[in-house]
Amino acid sequence: MSKKNFTNIVILTGAGISAESGIKTFRDQNGLWENHDILDVATPQGFERDPELVHRFYNLRRAQLLSDEVKPNQAHFALARLEKEFNGQVVIVTQNVDNLHEKAGSKNVLHMHGELLKMRCSKSKQSFSISKDITSARACPCCLEEGNLRPHIVWFGERPFHMNEIQQALSTCDLFLSIGTSGQVYPAAMFVDLAKESLAHTVEFNTNSTDVSDKFDEHRLGKAGVEVEKFVDELLS
Ligand code: APR
Repeated sequence: MSKKNFTNIVILTGAGISAESGIKTFRDQNGLWENHDILDVATPQGFERDPELVHRFYNLRRAQLLSDEVKPNQAHFALARLEKEFNGQVVIVTQNVDNLHEKAGSKNVLHMHGELLKMRCSKSKQSFSISKDITSARACPCCLEEGNLRPHIVWFGERPFHMNEIQQALSTCDLFLSIGTSGQVYPAAMFVDLAKESLAHTVEFNTNSTDVSDKFDEHRLGKAGVEVEKFVDELLS
């Protein structure tokens, strides 16, 4: 990395940044996510077919997230420190539905694929915080009807959240970091292209090369917990 003075940093994070916190990534088990076919638990059609299965699946993920076993790791803490100490703007765009960036202290976080600790009403689209299990029999707090609650998660075929803000941030960024994402899911996989249109310096952090590695100016190969901390130290020094 050259010692250029950056002013606007956009950081895209994916499942790999939470791997060292004990949360499984999506694509390392023959397309199965925690032993389930992604089409069963991450599509509107899967939810329509078997809402109880989908609720059970996200209830388990939520319970895991709220247990003592899952904590932010060095990469989450390093990004929170960057936001606090950097003399410019830092935006984290995460594909993760966990709350580990917030737990580490990051404030400027956009959850483009939703959040495990939120539910929403399928009718009114109103979302609200949730920590307990959801079943189809649970009445929705806004319409008081049963069966209208769904996880506040962006499933395949649905439009990600915060796209206008994300595009705006990418259009002015001069440093773009992509951490722990396989680059297989759009639109997140093309954020590197948008950052490059803004002439940003682009850096990929991953334990392996990915489908989009060729697009990046710089690569930090290794575990996010080590490499991100090292990079933040360099940036702030
Ligand atoms: N440090 C850095 N990178 C890591 C680490 C680690 N400790 N562990 C794994 N990785 C990398 C893997 O090499 C892989 O490239 O993290 C990436 C994880 O990729 P995916 O499992 O595909 O996760 P992600 O890219 O976040 O998936 C995107 O797909 O299923 C949907 O909506 C879901 O948000 C998710 C989206």
